[in-house]
Amino acid sequence: MQTFLRGRDMITTQEWTKEEIDTIMDVAFELKRNRALGLPHAHLRDKVLAMLFFFSSTRTRASFEAGMAQLGGHAQFIDSKTTQVAHGDTAKEIGEILGRYNDGIAIRHCDWGVGNQYMRWVAEASRTPVLNMQCDLYHPHQILADLQTIIEKKGDPRGKTITVSWAYASSYSKPQSVPNSLILLMTRYGMNVRLVHPPEFKLKTEFLDQAKINAKKHHGSFEIMDDFDAGVSGTDIWYAKSWGPMLTTTDPAEDKRITDQYKNWIADEQRLAKAKPDAIYMHPLPADRNVEVTDGVLDGPNSVVFDQAENRLHAQKAVMALTMS
Ligand code: CP
Repeated sequence: MQTFLRGRDMITTQEWTKEEIDTIMDVAFELKRNRALGLPHAHLRDKVLAMLFFFSSTRTRASFEAGMAQLGGHAQFIDSKTTQVAHGDTAKEIGEILGRYNDGIAIRHCDWGVGNQYMRWVAEASRTPVLNMQCDLYHPHQILADLQTIIEKKGDPRGKTITVSWAYASSYSKPQSVPNSLILLMTRYGMNVRLVHPPEFKLKTEFLDQAKINAKKHHGSFEIMDDFDAGVSGTDIWYAKSWGPMLTTTDPAEDKRITDQYKNWIADEQRLAKAKPDAIYMHPLPADRNVEVTDGVLDGPNSVVFDQAENRLHAQKAVMALTMS
């Protein structure tokens, strides 16, 4: 267990050692247990987290805000559009100034090619930790909650198969941050990771290469497939969600033309039947119901999406308590 994580940024789990992530999991389970028992756990009394949003959120905002209150502190919501961020406050101003007012700065900025760089600039200027609430490349707090959920539902992740598959959605072009973060973290837990997508929805080569290195080091495997049904076959964990074809095109019309070719890539009961009978279905939400995933799968007995959403609270509280105390 690592006992000194104070001041650390959480921008991607890849920058944390496995032992440090094990510590986050340990604390997350302890905080979940304390909340269930009604035991006080005000580790961040008088501490304040700034939460700067460039993009909308339900779960992330609500869970960070609730988490800070439960830890005895406060979270302030800052919307980029209704503050002077829209009129010229730069990443340097945000890091310098919010870093002086607060004990941590959490940011959601998902613009492709911009979000992660913005976070790095804020972190460079800030004296307090920067927590990534999702950027164009990573969604670390989602993936920590996912790991906690997998451990709860499946026990030791080693040797289990997780299928990270693309699915069709029509609402908007979703970031690649979730599949990137999944292949990077789950390969470090000795899992057999299958990444399944149509050819136009490839992920960055640097993440694919890193996932291969992680899998080799931790005695798991990493495979890329383009056959949806084969990818789901015999799996223990089916994580099916949409993401955009950013590496193929950033033109919205071309994105739609490409994406609409794959309307049959839906997570449905027929495909779920190809997984192991006790397989779990995961999705970070929001989902495009009956487009990306059917109601039957999302609300069915294999789905763990609400436990997964709950674990956002516990995993984030662990990161905040460890980095901001
Ligand atoms: N999963 C997730 O990040 O949800 P929100 O976009 O609602 O925060």
